[in-house]
Amino acid sequence: MTTSDDTTTLTHAEAAAIAQEVLEQVGRAVVGKQKPLGLVLAAILAKGHVLIEDFPGLGKTLAARTFAQALGLDFSRAQFTPDLLPADLTGSYIYDQRVSEFSFRRGPLFAGLLLADEINRTPPKTQAALLEAMQEGQVTVEGETHPLPVPFHVLATANPVEYEGTYPLPEAQLDRFLLRVGFGYPTTDEEYAVVARRLERQREEVSVEAVTDAAGVRALQAAVERIKVDESVGRYCVALAEATRDHQDVLIGASPRGSLGLVLAARGWALVRGRDYVIPEDVKAVAGAVLAHRITVKPELWMTKASGSRVVEAVLASVPAPGALEHR
Ligand SMILES: Nc1ncnc2c1ncn2[C@@H]1O[C@H](COP(=O)(O)OP(=O)(O)OP(=O)(O)O)[C@@H](O)[C@H]1O
Ligand SMILES: [Mg+2]
Repeated sequence: MTTSDDTTTLTHAEAAAIAQEVLEQVGRAVVGKQKPLGLVLAAILAKGHVLIEDFPGLGKTLAARTFAQALGLDFSRAQFTPDLLPADLTGSYIYDQRVSEFSFRRGPLFAGLLLADEINRTPPKTQAALLEAMQEGQVTVEGETHPLPVPFHVLATANPVEYEGTYPLPEAQLDRFLLRVGFGYPTTDEEYAVVARRLERQREEVSVEAVTDAAGVRALQAAVERIKVDESVGRYCVALAEATRDHQDVLIGASPRGSLGLVLAARGWALVRGRDYVIPEDVKAVAGAVLAHRITVKPELWMTKASGSRVVEAVLASVPAPGALEHR
């Protein structure tokens, strides 16, 4: 494991090697899913939060837990049930009899990596408490502000099936997630590998080695901040976000937060791919995950195949990408 303190500066090559090692460790537990796993890592490296939207049993919890282990971050998990209260997440003041005063007991938000499971099953007030923590990096309880650890990242899961009694996240809140990814079903061989590995290890849990720690993650994030983005690539990101707003199927397109998300996530992806500059292909690789959940299609199209993802495909096909970039 590579340990770092906050004075460590990683060279680009060191950072890229650590990112690869993290993915390698995660791959020891999770079969397949290279692209979504790479996207999740890119988002964390770009200091973002991720929404994982998929059906039950596809390895979401396993992936979240394994990322926490490989990144050396404290892991916590909160199940978002209909009766979950904001204080169940943030923590609350508890009367301590021994010293006759109230002390703050921290809730599950105080973690390096929080798996927020099934956030669409909890009412808006509790969703808001989570989204506030994601945005502000702090929580306020009874007028007192408590900073969250740095890094603090949320991997939230949501079931795509709208059961009765779910509370779909409003668009304004979806926008807080840098990426939305789906895992999708494994291929037959991958699914057999899941079964075979389970039989071979003779127990349920899988654990992987820590590749780095919280300070190391901060150093990786600092390395991502140094990744270069040519003006032509930045303008390409803006043009893609703008084009989602002009598309005929769209009621509300991506905001400038979408353009920014595209640039930042593309930088995280560039590091995962071992480059210290962003190329248009990085932008294309992350565009669906960054933009699709920020797009609302017109209500009259809800029964058709129109979707945010299709709009992103269309704009990727229509907006010209900048030509080959020169790099010394
Ligand atoms: N790609 C995969 N690689 C390895 N194991 C997997 C994979 N997909 C599923 N599994 C196994 O299937 C089981 C279910 O996975 P997990 O609990 O992570 O699913 P989930 O997506 O979190 O489901 P839910 O939505 O119900 O919470 C676990 O035992 C996990 O190890
Ligand atoms: Mg789960």
